[in-house]
Amino acid sequence: MRVLSVVGARPQFVKAAVVSRKIRDVGEEVLVHTGQHYDEEMSDVFFEELDIPEPEYNLGVKSDTHGRQTARMIAELEPVVEEEDPDVVLLYGDTNSTLAGAIVGSKRDVAVAHVEAGLRSGNREMPEEVNRILTDHASDLCFAPSEAAVDNLAAEGIVDGVHWTGDVMYDAVLAARDRARENSTILEDLGLEPDEFVLTTVHRASNTDERENLEAILDGLADAPLPVVFPAHPRTVNRLQEYDLWERATDDLEIIEPLGYLDFVRLLDTAERVATDSGGVQKEAFFLGTRCVTMREETEWTETVDCGWNQLVGPNADLIREGLTTDWEPQSNPQPYGDGSASRRIVGLLQEELETTPDRRIE
Ligand code: UD1
Ligand code: UDP
Repeated sequence: MRVLSVVGARPQFVKAAVVSRKIRDVGEEVLVHTGQHYDEEMSDVFFEELDIPEPEYNLGVKSDTHGRQTARMIAELEPVVEEEDPDVVLLYGDTNSTLAGAIVGSKRDVAVAHVEAGLRSGNREMPEEVNRILTDHASDLCFAPSEAAVDNLAAEGIVDGVHWTGDVMYDAVLAARDRARENSTILEDLGLEPDEFVLTTVHRASNTDERENLEAILDGLADAPLPVVFPAHPRTVNRLQEYDLWERATDDLEIIEPLGYLDFVRLLDTAERVATDSGGVQKEAFFLGTRCVTMREETEWTETVDCGWNQLVGPNADLIREGLTTDWEPQSNPQPYGDGSASRRIVGLLQEELETTPDRRIE
């Protein structure tokens, strides 16, 4: 089997880390980095720390408007797919890199497989929601992390090629947690004690690109009863400076550069609480047993809310404050995202499907 995997943004490196090696154990992989994320701490650090194979191609697309960025990825990726002639194009998550891969795979009549298929927030204004829907509809194989994701696909008429696999991010956290406990010195480096700080991340367009929302988030976080550590995405740093909120943010919060995965997992594992608008961080907090306050109005990871580990508070200062100061207890500890062997299942399914389909296109 010959798999062409497309990655481009931070969460995709984390997910590919647990799948790429397994693919290479049983077949060939051509790894393509679109270059959507390119700063050392947004990209290289993950490849080094997580021992991800060096990409065979880096398309060097970098930042732009969504349309131009996606268009450039498509234009750069198409000749690579043509040249490499893979059996399947493998995609992760919901970024513009994911969508570009789905379009090129389907236009070149190569099978398309989507990891993290079937997630829906129900909010079409979110760029990622459109990416997810379009990618799922262009995919021949949909690897769904939860039962709800399978149901979401069925509700849109996608039934063939759908497999429940569990979530690869659970595999990633399990692989990183003990390594982080043993090797990360981030608590000492930042002078933090376990359970004596709040960890926060903010990068969602709806929060960063509207001054009012970003300001409300700063207001809510500033009232946390513990120090707040904030590894800030470059997008958020840019906006804080542009909106003249930088000084205020650095007065109230400990803003640091984005962290490598092991240091980040170590903080997430030891934080008293986390406040985030990230998709991945909500789930990782759940896996690590850290209560999460999600600064969005809706989530794709509804199971984390249903069992009481995650509260949806939106970019609302009062609700953020309440989520961080009130002592709430989760109701249960379900395992809606599998048992940590999603990557093994996915690679097994790819092998099975490709071996039984001589003309490649999976029916
Ligand atoms: C993207 C994904 C989002 C994902 C996030 C993970 C889309 C539509 N969005 O959002 O789903 O949650 O990645 O972090 O694909 N920048 C840098 N250096 C970098 C990367 C970005 O400075 O290495 C800055 C640039 O100013 C850029 C901005 O961040 O314009 C946004 O980057 P972009 O990749 O377009 O979107 P993200 O917000 O990172
Ligand atoms: N992450 C990291 N360092 C950081 C912030 C996040 O390693 O400073 C990891 C985090 O553990 C998760 C992934 O990046 O695995 C999530 O990426 P992000 O929040 O950027 O994107 P999303 O999941 O919202 O698409």
